[in-house]
Amino acid sequence: MKRLDGRTALVTGAARGIGLSFAQAYAAEGATVALGDIDLPRAEAAAAAIGPRAFAVHLDVTRQESIDAAVEAVVARAGGLDILVNNAALFDLAPIAEITRASYERVFSVNVAGVLFTLQAAARAMIRQGRGGKIINMASQAGRRGEPLVAVYCASKAAVISLTQSAALNLIEHRINVNAIAPGVVEGEHWEGVDALFAKYEKRPLGEKKRLVGEAVPYGRMGRAEDLTGMAVFLAGPESDYVVGQTYNVDGGNWLS
Ligand SMILES: NC(=O)c1ccc[n+]([C@@H]2O[C@H](COP(=O)([O-])OP(=O)(O)OC[C@H]3O[C@@H](n4cnc5c(N)ncnc54)[C@H](O)[C@@H]3O)[C@@H](O)[C@H]2O)c1
Repeated sequence: MKRLDGRTALVTGAARGIGLSFAQAYAAEGATVALGDIDLPRAEAAAAAIGPRAFAVHLDVTRQESIDAAVEAVVARAGGLDILVNNAALFDLAPIAEITRASYERVFSVNVAGVLFTLQAAARAMIRQGRGGKIINMASQAGRRGEPLVAVYCASKAAVISLTQSAALNLIEHRINVNAIAPGVVEGEHWEGVDALFAKYEKRPLGEKKRLVGEAVPYGRMGRAEDLTGMAVFLAGPESDYVVGQTYNVDGGNWLS
């Protein structure tokens, strides 16, 4: 008996990075897993590599009709939805004087509105089913405090922590647990883009920021997606039934709370 036998999970932004690792971990624990991503070909290839327990669905979390269609497709194909991981997110960076409204709207439409309305669609399906559920939002250490160049992304992740608390308090009567994971700095394609932006604004050679943030982690290195899967499985399974509205730091010791 595996920990997620008989469960169905939808992981947003699962074509690569942390979301892909979560999809792999859930399938290994016996769940049927839908990989939702705006990059459908890559999500399809990732699902095929995981095996018959996984399938891809096209999902753009900035479009309500796409969210509704993806949740409906998962329920139709798998017979229900038990676990949602709100993982899709965008990063951007600029000094306050240079932030554009377009960047703000792009980041907030994925990281905040995307999280809220995907959570809502999944919660509606879970309430209809009447067998509870698990919703896991991806926050960040960035949501714990501001950073001089990262105002918009930090604010978006603070909003994720707040939405997690409110949604958790509202949905626990339906036995739907809503919790969040706050990673620190995690290796992967995402950080290649982050490093390039810091290089531009802090006038550093490429790779330097990434090396410095890794060295600064108390654990002694950057995180890897696999460092987060234990928490993701815990929050998706029955052992977390009494855990409500929490945001767990999984960051090698970067943030203590
Ligand atoms: N990597 C880190 O250092 C780090 C640190 C803290 C928090 N996080 C958070 O963890 C999560 C995963 O991070 P990652 O590093 O794996 O990111 P990533 O950039 O590697 O992957 C994000 C995925 O989301 C997809 N996506 C983008 N826009 C979308 C949309 N509108 N609809 C659906 N899918 C969309 C992308 O195609 C991609 O597959 C994010 O919420 C991120 O903010 C990451």
